[in-house]
Amino acid sequence: MGRTSIPDIGEKYENEEPLTMLTAYDAPIARQVDSGGVDMILVGDSAGDNHLGYDDTLPVTLEESLSNTAAVDRAVEEAMVIGDMPFLSYGTSIEESVTNAGRFMKEAGADAVKLETAPYGETTIEIVSRLTELGMPVVGHIGLTPQRMNQIGGGYVQGRGDGSSATVDALVETAKQLEAAGAFAIILEAVTEETGKEVTDAVDVPTIGIGAGRYVDGQVLVITDVLGLSQKSYKLSRQYADLNSIVREAVESYVDDVRSGAFPASEEVFDVIDDEE
Ligand code: KIV
Ligand code: NA
Repeated sequence: MGRTSIPDIGEKYENEEPLTMLTAYDAPIARQVDSGGVDMILVGDSAGDNHLGYDDTLPVTLEESLSNTAAVDRAVEEAMVIGDMPFLSYGTSIEESVTNAGRFMKEAGADAVKLETAPYGETTIEIVSRLTELGMPVVGHIGLTPQRMNQIGGGYVQGRGDGSSATVDALVETAKQLEAAGAFAIILEAVTEETGKEVTDAVDVPTIGIGAGRYVDGQVLVITDVLGLSQKSYKLSRQYADLNSIVREAVESYVDDVRSGAFPASEEVFDVIDDEE
């Protein structure tokens, strides 16, 4: 059995099966995310603050994203792997956008790419159209688009139309343009539940929400939030494990054992003749 394909996603959508997506940035976590049965793994530029130690997504480079995507690709057997194009790796020209999207697919093993679109963002709509024409499947991303954080000013919920956010109409219209340009799915980030529903009703491709409420076709979360490896918690997320504590306790136990002489023990050392290594 190969990886989840675009037709597989389409079939689940037609059958109204909720779609599942999580992020991953490295092989060991990607392996477990894949075994856990998600449909799609997004190698998000959320790697910026969740994997690479930056404050946000803006500094993430194309080379870093390609490296993360390749690591995930090597570990994943069943889920669709989606490479998230980082800030300014697309948009400067059609040519560079196509070349860079192509690197995700040809060099890093991605099955699809994702890029953010501002409300009515003509440039990215054109890029989505070009990429899909050339055979590169694209996931759109609207609502709160973190690469535009310097304009938006913070993590403001979109669709409230209150000055710091796009209107519902703008988001619906942009989603329709993305669908027409060939996007096979659209991520909706941090929008009111009503906006999530209106966009979902307006397009005939699956919507994948993160903080977009209940009336969308699927959900995506950031894996470090899910696993409790983050520094903060978010209203839109849900934490399913507390890996920060588990990792810290393991490290403390190791440090204690070395300092007390409890590690290594006799069964963990090599003799001249050893039957088990
Ligand atoms: O980078 C990311 O993790 C994302 C998701 C939040 C959709 O873009
Ligand atoms: Na992203």
